Amino acid sequence: MKIIAGNWKMNGTRELLNEMIVALENIDTENKVILCVPYTMLAASSARVAIGAQDVSAHDHGAYTGQVSANMVAATGATYTIVGHSERRQYNGDTNDTVRQKAAAAVAAGLTPIICVGETMDEKNAGKTMEIIQSGVRESVPQDTKNIIIAYEPRWAIGAGITPTDDEIASAHQLIADTLSDMGLGGTPILYGASVRASNAAQIMSIPHVDGVLVGGASLKVDDFIPIITSVK
Ligand code: 13P
Repeated sequence: MKIIAGNWKMNGTRELLNEMIVALENIDTENKVILCVPYTMLAASSARVAIGAQDVSAHDHGAYTGQVSANMVAATGATYTIVGHSERRQYNGDTNDTVRQKAAAAVAAGLTPIICVGETMDEKNAGKTMEIIQSGVRESVPQDTKNIIIAYEPRWAIGAGITPTDDEIASAHQLIADTLSDMGLGGTPILYGASVRASNAAQIMSIPHVDGVLVGGASLKVDDFIPIITSVK
């Protein structure tokens, strides 16, 4: 069983979400399917597809205009939330520190956070990939919490149509698995995300410690997303 999560980013409509849910309800798979959609679409419900947000506030409530708390997300019936996506880190100032607080708020509200880590192209070129991944996991994961998912998203490959080599993915996922195990969180699912398509999904998910994928662009069309879900058992 693999976990196939879609991240719609700031895309989609309610109509598309309804169409996607209907299509996903009819597919024959044991894989876990999650759709992380904009806040305005969170109230969707489906027995087959879990719904998630793309960020939550680190705060419970208060004077934080524009923010949405983990409890508010949970109250819609959603059960997951992404935290620490590279686009939040790039455009909204999220750091490992704030991501850890958001992940803790998500867990406290009963949501499963999908905590993203990954290196930029500059960090990769400076030979810092492993250091960034390891500190990302150590600093973004709250203490004493088991109900989490990690997503390795090499930031330079997101939306770029290019992916790391299998060896690069394998080393990153091995390091994440070892780091989690060292933190007492062995067995935590680890997803790969960045330029996942139907044509590379099965190969990527055959790499050790790749427990599923986090899909951006290819999760926005039924005909692109379903073949990714059904590419593995
Ligand atoms: P793409 O699949 O469009 O590269 O996006 C990946 C991503 O950011 C998922 O969170």
